[in-house]
Amino acid sequence: MESPITSSNYPPSISTNSPLTIRDELKSRLKKALVKSSFPEEIADISSATVAKFGDYQSHVAMVLAKRLGENPRTIARQILAHLHVSDMSAPPDVAGAGFLNFRILDQYLADRITQVTQDSRMGVPLASPRKRIVVDFSSPNVAKPMHVGHIRSTVLGDALVRIARFLGHDVITDNHIGDWGTQFGKVIYGWKHFLDPDDLAREPVEELVRLYRKTNQLGNEDPAIARQAREELVLLQRGDPENLVIWKQTVELSWKAFESVYKILDVHFTHCLGESFYNQSLSPLVEHLLATEVAQPSEGAICIFFPEIPELADKPCMIRKSDGGFLYATTDLATLEYRIKTWNPDTIWYVTGAPQALHFQQIFAIARRLGISAELVHIAFGNILREDRKMMKTREGENVSLATLLNEAIERAAKILTEKNPSLPLEEQEKIAHAIGIGAVKYAEFSQHRLTDYVFSWDKMLSFQGNTAPYLQNAYVRIRSIFRKSDEIPKLSSVHLDLPEERALALRLLQFGETVPIVLEEFRPNLLANYLFELANSFHSFYEKCPVLRAEEGVRESRLTLCNLSARVLAEGLSLLGIQVPERM
Ligand code: ARG
Repeated sequence: MESPITSSNYPPSISTNSPLTIRDELKSRLKKALVKSSFPEEIADISSATVAKFGDYQSHVAMVLAKRLGENPRTIARQILAHLHVSDMSAPPDVAGAGFLNFRILDQYLADRITQVTQDSRMGVPLASPRKRIVVDFSSPNVAKPMHVGHIRSTVLGDALVRIARFLGHDVITDNHIGDWGTQFGKVIYGWKHFLDPDDLAREPVEELVRLYRKTNQLGNEDPAIARQAREELVLLQRGDPENLVIWKQTVELSWKAFESVYKILDVHFTHCLGESFYNQSLSPLVEHLLATEVAQPSEGAICIFFPEIPELADKPCMIRKSDGGFLYATTDLATLEYRIKTWNPDTIWYVTGAPQALHFQQIFAIARRLGISAELVHIAFGNILREDRKMMKTREGENVSLATLLNEAIERAAKILTEKNPSLPLEEQEKIAHAIGIGAVKYAEFSQHRLTDYVFSWDKMLSFQGNTAPYLQNAYVRIRSIFRKSDEIPKLSSVHLDLPEERALALRLLQFGETVPIVLEEFRPNLLANYLFELANSFHSFYEKCPVLRAEEGVRESRLTLCNLSARVLAEGLSLLGIQVPERM
């Protein structure tokens, strides 16, 4: 297929590298203290305190060491403390409970950090080191089938991971591995030749293609002769029959147009869209090569790869050529992998695909290791979307809710809520805001829990202005911006005062943005960033309730405006890393 190449629209704004985050600074001090106490430095650990009254950060290192050495953790903790120099940043750390080290950061240190981060275009988020080249395989819908709500998880999750990786400075190549070659085409082509409705095709192309597929399928079940003819159409296509190739090409183009309109609504872009068909010519030589090198073996007429050395796969061989000569999903994925390694030489490849494909990727990755491919390969899996009755959104008959319909409904519902809340908005602005809220809400539903958790698709929940939702976070941003509309005052950089507990809590939270973004990629969990933003919005609301901003005396006002401004910037940047826009009003 023609590969529409779109360049990414979000280059990372790389400034000079930011200073260490507070957590990393504490960690590096702790490492030094461990070395001086003759303990291994790699076990240094610092995490945010779980309970605020114990301080801001804590370390379990003494407990871990004590267990290893069979000694008293509190004794070890005191030994480490004797060598730990943090007086410029923390109150004297104390040993608590079973041997925790607790740190309470000095107010002045927090204030200085806020001043620093305010001037940093990365808002304290350090660049990744080492910088990696990452290929991300995501979205990857199938031709002649509608893109369904299941594909939304891959698209939205993949896009957020890509944005975050780019922001951290990684070199990211995105590749939409469209399912544009497969057994469905025999049925689609048979249907095209026998009962295509050109008017329907012009009006709703994907729906018509799906109808052709389903009707042939149904007729084939009743009449084996039709099933045979459909298979013959597939063989003809695979042999390069010109008429069938023309039909196939049209189905790909029509489907691609439908996908593109969804990507446009979602603001998702790909560097490459090399579909399965791109690898057609490589499949046969690949299988021959795997046979010749004895990676694959003939088995009952088919060609398979066996994994006797891997217990979970010992009785699960991977078939790469059927006895009738046909190739499989796995064959294409091996050819794809080979191409990506050869062409882009990545350090790592991420496959953002549903959990049911776990076995498939386990096999592909095992074969890759056997072929000596050293790039790190990761299957980033996710669960299902459920209806409010907790049944699968995708039914067995394949009557999927179409993604485009769903996204448009999101925008319409947001527009309705908006008209109720703010009837005076000009229509054009209202449309833009409804788009940001509606699409933001659908995307955020993906991030408000762990990716492997099934989640219930509930309009009322995701569009609510309360709770862990996109509208709540967007509204927090809008409220902050409205302070500036009232004041007209861009906060001049002033010394920051953190006298009230709510000011201090907000400052600490803001400084943790730089600690949160990188850990998203440790286990591919954008929900950690979403949770952070939710907590930030809560900290902001508490601050705003207790700390008057515009009515505050001079000096305090500028300091609070600085906190407000940074809160708005972090909320906007954080949401944009999740692919969510913030309106200026709502
Ligand atoms: N088209 C596939 C599907 O819809 C997903 C492809 C994922 N990527 C891959 N390289 N296998 O299930």
